[in-house]
Amino acid sequence: MIFVNKTRLNSISVVGGAFGDEGKGKVVDEICHTLVKRFDKVIVYRWNGGSNAGHTVEIQNKKFVLHQIPSGALIEGATCILGKGMVIHPGDLVSELATIQDNSDIKTDIVIDEMTALALDTHRAFESSLKKKEEGGAGSTGRGIAPAYADIIYRHPLRMRDLLDKSWKEKFEKHYLLYKSLIWGLGNNLGKMQVNSLSGGTLEVGDKTKFIKKISEQRNQIGKYIKNIYDLVKENWNSKVPFVFEGAQGVGLDLRWGVYPDVTASDPTPSGIFASTEGIVNPEAIEIRANVYKATYTSSVGKRVLPTKMDEKLAARIREDANEYGATTKRPRDVYHIDLPALSYFAKVSLATHLVLTHLDISYPDTPIKVCTHYANKRGKQIDYRPDQEFLHGVVPMYESFKPWDGGKIKNSTNLNDLSSSAKEYIKFLFQSLNLLPLMLTTGPKRESVINSNYLLF
Ligand code: IMP
Repeated sequence: MIFVNKTRLNSISVVGGAFGDEGKGKVVDEICHTLVKRFDKVIVYRWNGGSNAGHTVEIQNKKFVLHQIPSGALIEGATCILGKGMVIHPGDLVSELATIQDNSDIKTDIVIDEMTALALDTHRAFESSLKKKEEGGAGSTGRGIAPAYADIIYRHPLRMRDLLDKSWKEKFEKHYLLYKSLIWGLGNNLGKMQVNSLSGGTLEVGDKTKFIKKISEQRNQIGKYIKNIYDLVKENWNSKVPFVFEGAQGVGLDLRWGVYPDVTASDPTPSGIFASTEGIVNPEAIEIRANVYKATYTSSVGKRVLPTKMDEKLAARIREDANEYGATTKRPRDVYHIDLPALSYFAKVSLATHLVLTHLDISYPDTPIKVCTHYANKRGKQIDYRPDQEFLHGVVPMYESFKPWDGGKIKNSTNLNDLSSSAKEYIKFLFQSLNLLPLMLTTGPKRESVINSNYLLF
């Protein structure tokens, strides 16, 4: 990557530092809120993933779970860009827009890059056929993410601008027939298949006529948001308007840095911003590159087994208190002790400069916080994290224990002085071990449950 020694002021990226579900939605919401108060406007740019993400924000006791629309959409004054690096399901987008419009007075300003690839019911059906046939689709959220990205590699993606094309119908019919054949080869009938929908239930894909009818309705509803956004991004990036880059998933789910099969197809690291903006935004020029971690434990879904297994009784307690169930799939998440070798590896490969710690309210006065500070091999020699499940099965985690605090007492706290000395000591230890600068701490799911957002350097 090109080294730049000048950063672009008022720019920040927010990346999941572990396996997704770290609480990024709330963090982005809070940062945007602060920036809009100060600058009247903010651009929120999402560069990866699609309906596989689930970003939860609680505002005035209303809970919003956003999947494809950036969390900034809940803030007046934010322009939300759905970037080229995403894969978007138009039907889910229509439902998400309706949820925001029905539940808030916020006028969302949304722009979709015309180059963004589509993830359709055909991709979902293909993914689930593959899953039945072999391990290919294993571990996915069932949102057709990998097949949609694979379309780009196979050089036949449907992009947002195809929805607006004069010959859109022919293009989508051709796409349907291609997937019908692929799925037939895997032993299924596309038209009769049930695929996941945003509501949590399933829907029949239907025959070609029904598929085209659905697309026709969706293009009527989202067509107005689809634009050539190159100049918009370039002009704003070259101005002083604040930019927030909202990542989805987490570095530990990256194809290169995570472990199979629990990896996603998009680039969750800031290097994805470079490609998504067609080279306009060099991520090394972003002033603050923040990785978000849960403060006292790590959660994970799927087949991945981390070395830092936790006693199931404590894991169950945390799962209930912190509602550790997938925002998109509702799957119960596995709960592990903090794994510093993995987290510092993820910080390194994602070029992080700053750290956000969430869920500080999850600490019990009767239970010391166990942190894996390094791995050793069977002979006791210190070894690094490597992105390979076989390798991780063989490492021996070495722990240090930290004095806990009463998480209940600081739930929703906004004041650093509310933290006990043991909490402060622990937090300092994490910042130092990960070699990252502090940006923000969060103490609960509500928008206002944030300490130290004034760490923001703007
Ligand atoms: P896919 O992105 O649907 O292909 O799923 C690939 C892997 O990434 C699976 O292990 C998913 O559980 C995981 N995954 C995808 N998106 C998220 C997310 O936003 N949070 C947590 N895990 C995710």
